[in-house]
Amino acid sequence: MYINLGLIGHPLSHTFSPVIHNYFIYKTGICGGYTCYNVSQENLPDLVEYFKKYDFKGINVTVPYKTEIMKYCDKLEFSSEEAGAVNTLLFDNGKITGYNTDIFGFKKMLESSNITTKGKRVLLLGAGGASRAVIPFVRESKPDRFVICNRTKSKAEEISIQYGNGAEICSFDEIVNEEYDIVINSTSIGLKGEPFLDLKIKCKEAAVDMIYRPYETSFLSCFSGVKKVNGLSMLVWQAAGSFKIWTGVNVEPEMSYFENIVYGSK
Ligand code: ATR
Repeated sequence: MYINLGLIGHPLSHTFSPVIHNYFIYKTGICGGYTCYNVSQENLPDLVEYFKKYDFKGINVTVPYKTEIMKYCDKLEFSSEEAGAVNTLLFDNGKITGYNTDIFGFKKMLESSNITTKGKRVLLLGAGGASRAVIPFVRESKPDRFVICNRTKSKAEEISIQYGNGAEICSFDEIVNEEYDIVINSTSIGLKGEPFLDLKIKCKEAAVDMIYRPYETSFLSCFSGVKKVNGLSMLVWQAAGSFKIWTGVNVEPEMSYFENIVYGSK
């Protein structure tokens, strides 16, 4: 039986997901394929019907459709409700269940770097789409302090109330000279290689970025003397989470394989 998998989003030209999933397909010996659909908002309903008609098993969802796609789901699994976003669709007999494996990806990223947020002072920068993977995890991990900082404070407030169980909120001016154990970047600053903001905060233990290119992102280059983690392992682990949902197979990704592809010999 051939398993049809894919990705929807817009734009998709820089996606690394096909490399990850095709490697999983190769490694597990499963018969299938992973295709990218760069779809406009107006063509989204037709594309979802197409997936049903042609027996697709699973679809990943990326920017800008992670919230929009929820209305096409017949059922939402707990993780997607926790995040208010869906990155994985499972098709079963014409019915769609929405999952969120970004939270799992974030959790595995921290675990694989031996970083724990329990009992720590955690600062999250950004309150956009990417922050939705971080907030449920940190909230549940019982940090000593959890602060969400965003340029537009009202967005931080909204997301804190909805998903953050009332995490503290602030603007960038308000964190100057503050001290945190773990600082996480979920803003889009650095995606195009631009420098990060001048943060003027003290980070004691770890800086974690959801951006993964270049190896030392502009956010990570703001710090020294702390553990630094870029977002590649989160991307790979969220893919492993989706692959498990679609195929039932657990893959243990070899991170060095993906690091070699993205960064070469560094
Ligand atoms: P979304 O993921 O919701 O589409 P985005 O526009 O990609 O949003 O931005 C993601 C995050 O990066 C947001 O938290 C955004 O801050 P605002 O909510 O104030 O827009 C943040 N961000 C992007 N560019 C920024 C910049 N130059 N300075 C500060 N924050 C920035």
